Amino acid sequence: MEAVKLTEDVYWVGAIDWNVRNFHGYLTQRGSTYNAYLIVDEKITLIDTVKENHTEEMLQRIAKVIDPAKIDYIISNHVEMDHSGGLPALKEVATEAQIVTSAKGKAGLEMHYQQDWDYQIVDNGDSLDLGQRSLSFALTPMVHWPDNMVSYLPSEKILFGNDAFGQHFADWHRFDDQLPYEILIEEAKKYFANIVLPYGRQVMKALEALSGLEIEMIAPSHGVIWRTYIQEIIEEYQKWASNETEEKAVIVYDSMWGSTEKLAQAVYSAFDAQGIKATVMSLNDNHISDIMTEVIEAEYICVGSPTLNNGLFPTVASFLTYLKGLAPQDRVGLAFGSYGWGGQSVKQVEKVFTECGFELLDSVKAQYIPTADDLESITNKLKGEL
Ligand code: FEO
Repeated sequence: MEAVKLTEDVYWVGAIDWNVRNFHGYLTQRGSTYNAYLIVDEKITLIDTVKENHTEEMLQRIAKVIDPAKIDYIISNHVEMDHSGGLPALKEVATEAQIVTSAKGKAGLEMHYQQDWDYQIVDNGDSLDLGQRSLSFALTPMVHWPDNMVSYLPSEKILFGNDAFGQHFADWHRFDDQLPYEILIEEAKKYFANIVLPYGRQVMKALEALSGLEIEMIAPSHGVIWRTYIQEIIEEYQKWASNETEEKAVIVYDSMWGSTEKLAQAVYSAFDAQGIKATVMSLNDNHISDIMTEVIEAEYICVGSPTLNNGLFPTVASFLTYLKGLAPQDRVGLAFGSYGWGGQSVKQVEKVFTECGFELLDSVKAQYIPTADDLESITNKLKGEL
C-alpha cells in the first residue's frame, strides 16, 4: 500500500473501497475511496481517517512515509464514520496525537467513541502552526453534518474539502486529469444530488467564504483530487447548490399492469413534442439514487403511481420520501397514475409535491387501461400546458 504525493510534503494516505455498492442507500456502482491526507512538517499532521474496516490500509500507507506513532495532530473535518472510523485504532498507535476539530466535531466524536481523547477546538479562521507551514480552518456546518469544517493549507494552496467536492469513485488514479472528465462530473453530480442537495444554502455560504482563497488543489474526502478542473467543479457546485435547472423533465413511475407505464409514455410524448428533453425512468429498473442524478438539473419532475390499496405503489412512496428529504427547490411537478376504482394515488403524489413547494401542472389519471385516444388526448392537453 503506497502513499501518493500531492506535493513535496503532502500525501494521500487513504483507502480504496472497490466493492462498496450500497452507501447508506446510495448505489455506489463505481465503489468509493475514503481519503486521508498526511502533512509532513515539524508537526506531523493527518487530515481525517477512513472507514473503520479500511484502517489497516491507511496505516500501511502512512507507514510508507513516516511511523504513524509520530503523528502530532489528527484533524477531524467531519465526524461521520466513513472519515472518523479509523480514529480509535490510530489513537492506539499515535497515543500522543491531539485531535483538532470543531466544537460540534468534539461533541460528535465523544458520542460516537466515548473516549477521553485530547482535543483542540478550532473555530472559523483559526490557524494551526505546523512548523514551516500553518493550516487554517473554516466551519461549513451542514455540508454535510453540523460538525463539518474544511482545512486549508495556504503554503501549497490545497483545500481539504471533506464531503464537499467528493465523488464515490474507486480508482487507482488520484487526480482529476487522469480520468475521463464526463464520468467524474457525473459522479460528482450524483454525489451532490444524493448527499449535499438539501444543504444548498449552506453550500452557497461555504463557497462564498472560500471564494477569497487561492486554490491549486481541492482534496475531498471521497474520490479524486481536483487539480485541473477546479474552476469547473466550483461552477457546477454553484449551479447545483442554487437549484439552477434546465428545461428538462424526468418522468418517474412504477406500474402494476402497464397502464401507468402507458401514461408515462403519453407524458413523454408531450415534452418531446414541445422540444423539451425528457428522461423516462421506471422505478422497477432504476435505482432512486440514479434518478436523483437526473432530478438535479430537471425543471419538471413527473411522478406516476398506480393506486394500490387506496394509496401509492410502494416503490413510488419510497421514491417520494427520498425526493422530499433531498429537498430540490423551484421545480414543476406533474402527478399521474392509473387506477381501478379509488384513484387516490395521484392526489397523494400531488400532496408530496406541494410539501416540496413545487408548482403543479394538472394531474393525469386513467381508469383501468387507457385507450390510444385517451393517451393522445392526455398528450395534447399536457402539450398545451408546457
Ligand atoms: Fe463522507 Fe458525511 O461523510
